[in-house]
Amino acid sequence: MRLKDCHSFHDFRRMAKSRLPGPIFDYIDGAADDEVTYRRNTSAFDTCHLVPNVLRGVKDIDMSVTIMGQTLAMPVYCSPTALQRLFHHDGERAVAAAAGKFGTMFGVSSLGTVSLEEARQISGGPQVYQFYFHKDRGLNRAMMNRAKLAGIEVMMLTVDSITGGNRERDKRTGFSIPFRLTLGGMLQFAMKPAWGINYMTHEGFKLPQLDGHVDMGGGALSISRYFTEMLDPSLNWDDVAAMVREWNGQFCLKGVMSVEDAKRAVEIGCTGIILSNHGGRQLDGSRSAFDQLAEIVDAVGDRIDVIMDGGVQRGTQVLKALSLGAKAVGLGRYYLFPLAAAGQPGVERALQLMQAEIERDMRLMGCASIDQLTRSNLRFL
Ligand SMILES: Cc1cc2nc3c(=O)[nH]c(=O)nc-3n(C[C@H](O)[C@H](O)[C@H](O)COP(=O)(O)O)c2cc1C
Repeated sequence: MRLKDCHSFHDFRRMAKSRLPGPIFDYIDGAADDEVTYRRNTSAFDTCHLVPNVLRGVKDIDMSVTIMGQTLAMPVYCSPTALQRLFHHDGERAVAAAAGKFGTMFGVSSLGTVSLEEARQISGGPQVYQFYFHKDRGLNRAMMNRAKLAGIEVMMLTVDSITGGNRERDKRTGFSIPFRLTLGGMLQFAMKPAWGINYMTHEGFKLPQLDGHVDMGGGALSISRYFTEMLDPSLNWDDVAAMVREWNGQFCLKGVMSVEDAKRAVEIGCTGIILSNHGGRQLDGSRSAFDQLAEIVDAVGDRIDVIMDGGVQRGTQVLKALSLGAKAVGLGRYYLFPLAAAGQPGVERALQLMQAEIERDMRLMGCASIDQLTRSNLRFL
């Protein structure tokens, strides 16, 4: 399969599957427990129909949005995800460059494999730094200072990962950092020698945001021990309020789902919330962000930027979320499979397809700009 044969999320997923060793594909593709939330994230969009308007003069389409003070040329951005250089040797470099080309935002994860400083040099667009809250308050402060010095525009604290999700696909294959592969997992790696050769002939695997704390060789900590030993399960609203004050800039919480929490986020001075269940990878059975969106927008949408992610594979799904009141939509696997399939050209093709879909769909909806999308364009089953 070649890149030019990829026309949708499903094509990229197939191409990624043919290239990646099974345990790595399953790490991206998998989710928690029975993966109910993961499936619902995408199927939730089918519970809602679009009602287009016609004859509205849609020659020129403006799909730009402004969130947390950042103007994005399109209403989607690349949500932060971990370990990207395992998926393609260019990893975050490819995603940062592609997002920059399309004028959109890109997030570097704490578990990213390229430093936030290097990504900052590459990406022309606004950059998010996604972090977790450590027991060591000094480390938290050092991370914020580092992000400030690097010129990061938006700090994003992920709050739905106070403990690791139960990813059973990873348990079956032994996927972890460092690798602890089962025999079955090893055989699956052996079946993809091209990935192995490529991996061995490129620079060594690193987690530069956590230098000296977590590594691949087992000298420091595994990622699962990082979650259990270094992150602080006693994290509470007062701790976050102190961080928001200290950052003194654009600050959002990723993984807020309840109205009560959304209101608390406003009260402590956050400028954005991301409704998210982490792509179904944390609490299985959790509601999908799309199902929960209207409730949150109605409660706080006039006081904070409400953004959502989870399950987005199509331009029409983006338009449904924006019509309900989301200010923008995060993409995860939508760009990860293209990254794994073809590196930067893959991510660029995926973003270009998404841009073309949104533009075409806005024309078909009779909307020349995002603010023309309203709830009158939606009917729920
Ligand atoms: C492989 C993978 C790794 C991820 N790593 C992180 C991470 O390090 N930090 C984080 O806040 N979210 C992480 N996420 C969640 C994404 O940011 C996003 O919320 C989710 O992927 C959206 O769902 P979608 O993949 O269905 O679009 C990860 C998701 C995937 C698929």
